[in-house]
Amino acid sequence: MTKTLNYQTSKTMSYHQIKDFEEYQQVYKRSVDDPEGFWADVAESFTWRKKWDTVLEWNFEEPNVKWFQGAKLNITENCLDRHLKTRGNKLALIWEPNDPKEKFVRYTYRELYERVCQFANVLKKNGAKKGDRICIYMPMIPDLAVAVLACARIGAVHSVVFAGFSASSMADRINDAECSMVITADALNRGTKQIPVKRIVNEALEQCKTVKKVIVVEHLGWAVQMTEGRDVWYHDEVEGVSKECPAEEMDAEDLLFILYTSGSTGKPKGVVHTCAGYMVYAQYSFCNVFQYEESDVYWCTADIGWITGHTYLLYGPLLAGATTVMFEGVPTYPDAGRFWQIVDKFGVSIFYTAPTAIRALMGAGVDHVLSYSLDSLRVLGSVGEPINEEAWHWYHIHIGKERSPVVDTWWQTETGGIMISTLAGVTPMKPSHAGFPLPGVQPILVDSDGNEIKDNEVEGYLCMKFPWPGMIRTTYGDHERCRISYFSTYKGLYFTGDGAKRDKDGLYRIIGRVDDVINVSGHRFGTAEIEEAINHNKNVIESAVVGYPHDVKGQGIYAYVICDKMPENIDNLRSEIIETVVQQIGKIARPDKIQVVSGLPKTRSGKIMRRILRKVAEGDTSNLGDTSTLLDPDIVDEIKEGAL
Ligand code: PRX
Repeated sequence: MTKTLNYQTSKTMSYHQIKDFEEYQQVYKRSVDDPEGFWADVAESFTWRKKWDTVLEWNFEEPNVKWFQGAKLNITENCLDRHLKTRGNKLALIWEPNDPKEKFVRYTYRELYERVCQFANVLKKNGAKKGDRICIYMPMIPDLAVAVLACARIGAVHSVVFAGFSASSMADRINDAECSMVITADALNRGTKQIPVKRIVNEALEQCKTVKKVIVVEHLGWAVQMTEGRDVWYHDEVEGVSKECPAEEMDAEDLLFILYTSGSTGKPKGVVHTCAGYMVYAQYSFCNVFQYEESDVYWCTADIGWITGHTYLLYGPLLAGATTVMFEGVPTYPDAGRFWQIVDKFGVSIFYTAPTAIRALMGAGVDHVLSYSLDSLRVLGSVGEPINEEAWHWYHIHIGKERSPVVDTWWQTETGGIMISTLAGVTPMKPSHAGFPLPGVQPILVDSDGNEIKDNEVEGYLCMKFPWPGMIRTTYGDHERCRISYFSTYKGLYFTGDGAKRDKDGLYRIIGRVDDVINVSGHRFGTAEIEEAINHNKNVIESAVVGYPHDVKGQGIYAYVICDKMPENIDNLRSEIIETVVQQIGKIARPDKIQVVSGLPKTRSGKIMRRILRKVAEGDTSNLGDTSTLLDPDIVDEIKEGAL
């Protein structure tokens, strides 16, 4: 008997839950044959002030991509207001503090709604309005989630900067987006460490002219320096403020947020996401990939400072009416059982983390897992970098007890949401393979000339040939950079920067970046960006950075540096260089290895042959390929001998 699919008969079918492989195949086919009809059906289930006039307008040349034009909405009405009737008393957010002895926090949908409205009113009271850019530099505390949603409520564009970035990185991002306001906190906890967040903001703002107001949330009760007329305490401002705040009406393509990420060249770029398409894609992908159910307790361990935190800690789950867990601390504090303790404590059923965390916890030994039942878990997710088979199996066996599917979700800051992934329990799962694309996503592999490779059991450059609602619209303030970065390498295609394989059944396996981007613990850095930071050190004349395989981080940072004179104490020099990078970018970009060299392998045209540097960093010097075009081939021997 042929199965009748709901979508053929029901206009309100939302595609938020594809239930079996046969249905996946049919829905996928429809999404390719009739993308506009497909996405219009997905979008039906949202709350719109006004529905769209056209579903899609696009070309990948300029690029120009517009979804749901003519529609009017506010994403927070979809995250909050529409749940109040049926889920007002359901938990929206559970916050677990860094220290397990401290009390956790829980907000129902009604409470979260009221807090967001109050915060939104405080923003307005301090002069913020629709279209303003607001930088958020905060610890992983509930007020961060509230602040992000409050910006969206009033139509301000949030630009969250991960609180591990340095003052200098923050200043670059604030200046690029011309932010008029910063939302921050006094200080933060991370494991055994405390970080003076407000002090870092003060330092950053010395270089920023556009910021008129700083709103400071008290977290650790630190005494901080406040600038009269500019800085205000949130707890003072919120006194007597209304818990109702009408949502600003937004056009579909109005900016929702900017999030900075690294590319091959130059400074990080501000990836722009817009209201309607991002919203539709966030909920659609969340519900399908994780096979979300109403009773789930969902936990994504990412920081809201990254895209994963935006889409799958905050927007995706709240759009779906889920209970989302937010954690302030680190996986190894007070010990390597912390994640599993939290899973048991709250009965987490869907758990989403990064391979680097899995590898670190795997290294700490299975004893830390055995004290916990983990009975509540039913779906496990992985994101941010390729997950090696050993880590995949450890996760599947020891955490998932071989009964929970593992979804290896491939996507990017630019894609807004998950693009290629197993749908938990619905589509095939294979270790270290992301799997099939989500319906609505049309990946292709191309060769270096941009020709599509159609067969299976092949490898190529991963591109997208058709737009999806969650995709990047522009890079803030510089549309040409967006075109060059993503749409100019292969004509008519969005180029991801990743290489991938497709197996005999059509499942994708992501190999990693093919450009000068390195992925350290799931965090992206451009080699040029780290080199620029290193070159700030007074002893350094020139540097070249490459990635190399690292057991826990996935990739480590290997820096080759040329100094003005050979340093007397190499360890001191290394510490100084590390300090420079920490100041320029932040601790997360610290080089793991620094080799002092007298020259770099350059071609006659002055281009560094990174291939050679990569091979040396990987410890594989057996075949360095053709070095005859080098200006000074002898330098290769020196580099090989000094390899770390
Ligand atoms: O190389 C891919 C890798 O992370 C890059 C995107 O980084 P970012 O924009 O910071 O977003 C990370 C979180 C979505 C990709 O180009 N990557 C991400 N997920 C995977 C992955 N590589 C392999 N497998 C994945 N599941």
